Amino acid sequence: MNRMQPIHHPLRTTLFAILLLAATGSPATAEVTVTMPGPWGDYDETLDDPAEVDATEAFQRFRQQSMQGTSATYRSIEQILRYGAPFAGQLPDLARELARRGDDIETGFAQETPAREGEPGALPKAWEDPEFSAYKAAFREATAELQRKVDAADDLEDEGFQLRATEVLNGVRHQCLACHDNYRRR
Ligand code: HEC
Repeated sequence: MNRMQPIHHPLRTTLFAILLLAATGSPATAEVTVTMPGPWGDYDETLDDPAEVDATEAFQRFRQQSMQGTSATYRSIEQILRYGAPFAGQLPDLARELARRGDDIETGFAQETPAREGEPGALPKAWEDPEFSAYKAAFREATAELQRKVDAADDLEDEGFQLRATEVLNGVRHQCLACHDNYRRR
């Protein structure tokens, strides 16, 4: 088999970084290399330099990571209900986790931290539009409803239950899509 060899060459890496910079026009955050020691030896990881990430950016990044977690929780439930992944026994834990995230939706928006002009992220409208509260409340309610549905199930494996629960899950998804449509720039 004719496999490409990975290229580990500092000069090429630097040239690539310069090209990337020229292409995007905005400076990349400076990076630092941190050693992660442990029983398997030392591993180096290259990270954004903490000195270059201010409080606003850290807040935004936290919100984005939380959204990723919400997404993973939602998608895990979806794999079970819509696609038949054999983990129905985990539905109560997952539905509780999603409802907890629904309850917590306020936290990620507690500080006014919109994306910079033209960049992906939260739109300033999220802090200006009084209706944003209604979107957060509706999401909270949709995740609570899914939890109630799962908790009330006699048999989590039952096909009829899974079909009805998928409809409730679609109601949760509606809230993700509607909020993104109005308050997020991709
Ligand atoms: C009340 C509004 C709201 C709801 C409800 C909501 N989101 Fe979001 N979501 C946002 C906003 C605003 C952003 C952009 C945040 C940012 O980049 O600062 C976002 C970003 C994301 C991202 C990208 C995160 C990243 O790494 O940049 C994912 C993934 C995501 N949401 C998934 C979901 C899923 C899945 C649901 C539903 C289960 C959901 N969201 C519900 C408002 C919402």
